[in-house]
Amino acid sequence: MSDGIFLPEVPRGTLLVLSQRLERCTTARPQILSVLEGENDAVALQSSLSCLLWQVFIQSNWCGFYRHIDDQELVVGPYQGGMGCLRIPFSRGVCGAAARENKTQLVPDVHQFPGHIACDDATRSECVVPLRDHSGQVRGVLDLDSTHLSGFDSQEAAFCENLLQEIFSRPVRW
Ligand code: SME
Repeated sequence: MSDGIFLPEVPRGTLLVLSQRLERCTTARPQILSVLEGENDAVALQSSLSCLLWQVFIQSNWCGFYRHIDDQELVVGPYQGGMGCLRIPFSRGVCGAAARENKTQLVPDVHQFPGHIACDDATRSECVVPLRDHSGQVRGVLDLDSTHLSGFDSQEAAFCENLLQEIFSRPVRW
């Protein structure tokens, strides 16, 4: 079994100060790239990324992927956390907005987001990043949820964008 990545152990649900959160990202990035090097299967990559980002984003209560496999609809993919919605129409929710607009959605308070889907009442903030393939086509989204208000920062969103871009810029078997 792989050892995964090494990060300071912090209890699940803790919202560390931003500098500590960014340090986790910086420490994790080369380890994640090393663990996933050479893999080109989308499910293997998404499953492993869910697991690894779950370790990085200790403030998350849900961390994983929705896949764009049907027209105008997202279908749940590999994730860590509690039960999530199985399908999300493009027209709804933070995930729908990220896929529809092909743009990262950083939502500090989900109650202020029109059309938010409350799969888990405990979720208070979200960060959803489009997952693009090497040709730029949106293949799904990475969804990070937290029970904290403002659980994610724009620099953490940028870390995710950059990581996905790096990993999925090579040809992947979808
Ligand atoms: N809250 C998300 C739905 C996904 S689940 O909560 C995991 C949204 O509004 O897009």
